[in-house]
Amino acid sequence: MAKQRVVLAYSGGLDTSVAVHWITQEWDAEVVALAVDVGQSTDDDWDTIRNRALAAGAVEAQVVDAREEFATDLCLPAMRANALYEGKYPLVSSLSRPVIVRHLVRVAREQKADAVAHGCTGKGNDQVRFEVSTRALAPDLDVLAPVRVWGFTREDSIDYAAKHEIPIKVRKDNPYSIDENLWGRAIECGAMEDPWATPPEEPFTLTNQTATEPWELTLRFEAGVPVAVDGKQLPLHELIAEVTRVVGSYGWGRVDMVENRRVGIKSREVYECPGSLALIMAHADLESVTLERDLMREKARLEPRYAELVYDGLWHSPLRRALDAFVDSTQEMVSGDVRLGLGPGRCNVVGRRADKGLYDYELATYDAADQFRHQDAEGFVRLWGLGLETIARRQGPPE
Ligand code: ARG
Repeated sequence: MAKQRVVLAYSGGLDTSVAVHWITQEWDAEVVALAVDVGQSTDDDWDTIRNRALAAGAVEAQVVDAREEFATDLCLPAMRANALYEGKYPLVSSLSRPVIVRHLVRVAREQKADAVAHGCTGKGNDQVRFEVSTRALAPDLDVLAPVRVWGFTREDSIDYAAKHEIPIKVRKDNPYSIDENLWGRAIECGAMEDPWATPPEEPFTLTNQTATEPWELTLRFEAGVPVAVDGKQLPLHELIAEVTRVVGSYGWGRVDMVENRRVGIKSREVYECPGSLALIMAHADLESVTLERDLMREKARLEPRYAELVYDGLWHSPLRRALDAFVDSTQEMVSGDVRLGLGPGRCNVVGRRADKGLYDYELATYDAADQFRHQDAEGFVRLWGLGLETIARRQGPPE
């Protein structure tokens, strides 16, 4: 019988490198390693990463640049939905899994593979996202999770790599688990597993404060899509990277939270997401001047639900698609500019203007330009309070 063929989501790190070798040996399968570029910074270039997979025993190793589609198909809808899990986390890792799975399934088809594989542990959310997304797209493919099976500690994995001459540089004293893409960076483990402990500075890379000079960054949105920074038009993936770079250089954009994982564990998580947090903040602000009140409130009610679906691995659910259709229908007028004021440790909206906003100066002003019909207010307010007034007259005022 022909050997099983498995397409592995390959990061170039310790676990997935060990996984290439382990699947090949223990499950007697052929491994095709697939590295997906979603805008993460890597210690090595993609060629080195590809060669490492081959050295670990992969029959083939591919790298795909998915930055543009990640930005357009995943980050953008999440930004338009102002999606923050538990009010804080812009869904960095949650958003990348569906796009990685899209490519895993594509390559699995091209390779006539029997299964896909990932390097996630049994305690996290990422296994849920990989497996649920794969089953939603390709229910006939098996999903293999070697890390859940082998039971290695980090030390064991390092020893395994050394024994089988897998060319990987690891520091035994590096305690962090890091996941990064265009939308930000998640940092777990080490000293941060104590939720009382202040996170050490060392693992941060996107939010080290170097800029000191106060600055204003102007973001231009068209129909809910960010299109330019300081007047310079950029493709979305470059725009996200640019906002990340500028806002991050002010040391702003960290999140420190204890979150509820899908698998029932509370977990202390530290994120640095200067770009995504700044874009969501600016976008939501522009909505405040362009969306009608009821629409804005209903949208706000749905946004946490949207974030939960994405977090819980249900990107492919009909509810997520329906919510996206709703969000889409709200964005037509969300065009204009937002100014972000930046200073050390600070990023906030300092001004906004919409192309066709609902802010009407002549209605809002208290000066001579005032066009508001003050006499209309009297009857309106009387009717507004009529029910309560009737209670007081007929039944007596509340205690
Ligand atoms: N807790 C976050 C999430 O579930 C981050 C996960 C980070 N993943 C990782 N492999 N370190 O989305």
